[in-house]
Amino acid sequence: ELQSLFTRSDAYHNSFLIKPDPILDFVQKNTKDKGIEYDAAVSPAQGKFLQLILLSTGAKRVLEVGSLAGYSAIWMARALPDDGEVIALELEPLHAQALEENVKAAHLSSKIKVIVGPAHQSMKDLPSAKPFDLVFIDADKQNNTNYFVEAKRLVRKGGIVDNVGRNGRPADPDDHDAKVEGVRGLLRYIKDDGEVEATTIHTVGEKGFDGFLYAIRK
Ligand code: DHB
Ligand code: MG
Repeated sequence: ELQSLFTRSDAYHNSFLIKPDPILDFVQKNTKDKGIEYDAAVSPAQGKFLQLILLSTGAKRVLEVGSLAGYSAIWMARALPDDGEVIALELEPLHAQALEENVKAAHLSSKIKVIVGPAHQSMKDLPSAKPFDLVFIDADKQNNTNYFVEAKRLVRKGGIVDNVGRNGRPADPDDHDAKVEGVRGLLRYIKDDGEVEATTIHTVGEKGFDGFLYAIRK
């Protein structure tokens, strides 16, 4: 079966490239213990990929839209200098509580600032005068275009949108699922938007067949 092939391949590569990490093991366990749907977090390989992008671009400020319990925020915050920060937007109070606990366990309370509430409003409340080096959008897919428009206002250069692959469903004209439509809406928006260049890199691994859309503001 394809999924077991993806999972085995991810584990094989990770065994060489990603070190054992008791803090992230704790985060994973604490999140699961609270009954939070942990599967929606990025995989270890994807978390490290986000971290490496921040390191290679010298990023200092990151905005995360949809933080769940903080797994990706922790990967990203670890790439930032002492005066860097991740602003982590999360809708669900239960998730935000786990997020605060996990951030504390990772000794990153000084670098990760949590804002609880609807992310679109939280984004609108942020000033463009303090731009972000990267925005990572990983929230409700129905709002992808709304988040993307605000992200453009807030970002100096780059952004990533998670889960655009969705098992290839956006390319199926008979599939009208709301999350799938959310991905399509964003693609249509970007097609006619002269301000960004973007590409989708599909991903396979322990989280299935999905994708990251990477966009930069020109
Ligand atoms: C979904 C959302 C995610 O952020 C993810 O990583 C996987 C799936 C979802 O809503 O289906
Ligand atoms: Mg996601």
